[in-house]
Amino acid sequence: MLFNMFMAGRISFGPGVSSLIGEKASALGGKRVFLATDRTMEELGTAEKIVSFIDAAGLTVVPFYEVEPEPSVETVDSATALAKSEGCDLVVGLGGGSCLDVAKATSILLTNEGSAARYQGLGLVKNPGVPKIMIPTTAGTGSEVTFTSVLIRKSDGVKGGINGDQLYPEYSLLDPELTVSMPPSVTAATGMDALAHALESYTSKQASPFSDMFAEAAVSRIGRYLRVAVYNGTDIHARSEMMLAALYGGIALANAGVTACHALAYPLGSMFGIGHGQANALLLPYVAHFNAMALPEKFASAAGLLGGSFEEENIWDAASMCSALLHQLVADIALPSTLSDLDSRITEEHFATMAEKAMGVARPMANNPRTMTTDLCMEIYKEAM
Ligand SMILES: [Fe+2]
Repeated sequence: MLFNMFMAGRISFGPGVSSLIGEKASALGGKRVFLATDRTMEELGTAEKIVSFIDAAGLTVVPFYEVEPEPSVETVDSATALAKSEGCDLVVGLGGGSCLDVAKATSILLTNEGSAARYQGLGLVKNPGVPKIMIPTTAGTGSEVTFTSVLIRKSDGVKGGINGDQLYPEYSLLDPELTVSMPPSVTAATGMDALAHALESYTSKQASPFSDMFAEAAVSRIGRYLRVAVYNGTDIHARSEMMLAALYGGIALANAGVTACHALAYPLGSMFGIGHGQANALLLPYVAHFNAMALPEKFASAAGLLGGSFEEENIWDAASMCSALLHQLVADIALPSTLSDLDSRITEEHFATMAEKAMGVARPMANNPRTMTTDLCMEIYKEAM
């Protein structure tokens, strides 16, 4: 047993805690707050609410509404230019994973010269950023507790993470009330992303007793509450359980990493613009099937956590049940279950390129319990077709 343990900053959790943003920003020394968010948050009025809380603490807010789904290096560069010209000394990320990732990257670019592209990789950031506070409005990415900001370079279409300790948020406000406005499809996709984080870190070669504890707690909550959150979005108990599950999934992922599912999902985002959650949701049951025989105890245990019950103590049956339960969950929450359903542009001719790009996502592939090759990636894509 040999492992490290990483935990990000401080967290306040509970319905209504987002109203503490002014107080927390002030305590971290912020005077001019850069708010990285998107048009959805503006239209829903959530951004306005957060701005009013910051205003009330006597701080100035500079809002930036231009974060796009699957955000780009170019967006971070223009956010940074605005934050610099306005003299911002603290960054708040409000929204889904895209907004949080842009906020985290902007925070470090305010103190590190050049474009965000320069820092894509591991450990390339030199200086600590300005303080950053995350307010997620989805229950999925876990970005509030990870040291990564995933950005697409428009120049070559490659997705890459800026990874470094400087990206850990100083504070996160996890307010389940903010997730109530998520439509069912977004609730479903982001919830499956959280499940992918939990299940992949649970079955990662880097899994530890510490990460397992969070992964197990996340898997069982998602198995129990994701359907309710999708079909009864105002159920604040289900929303709270899902937000907690996403947090736990994020902690598990920060400590054990993801595996082949996330790596295989990357090209779906970079080549076809498929959303991160939806891509992972689709692939997760297929990857679980592919991996089950390599790590039967963990997959059997995950099947139990997802609500599976076994009459016989047959480890192989129990392990393969995990994939079946995931297929059922994806169908229940009305997400596409094959690549051809997902996007008609995806054809078998793309699989070689997709497999090559997926193998390039080196760390998750190395974490996978079953050894991966380009041919095996193509096999999984074919299976998912
Ligand atoms: Fe993810």
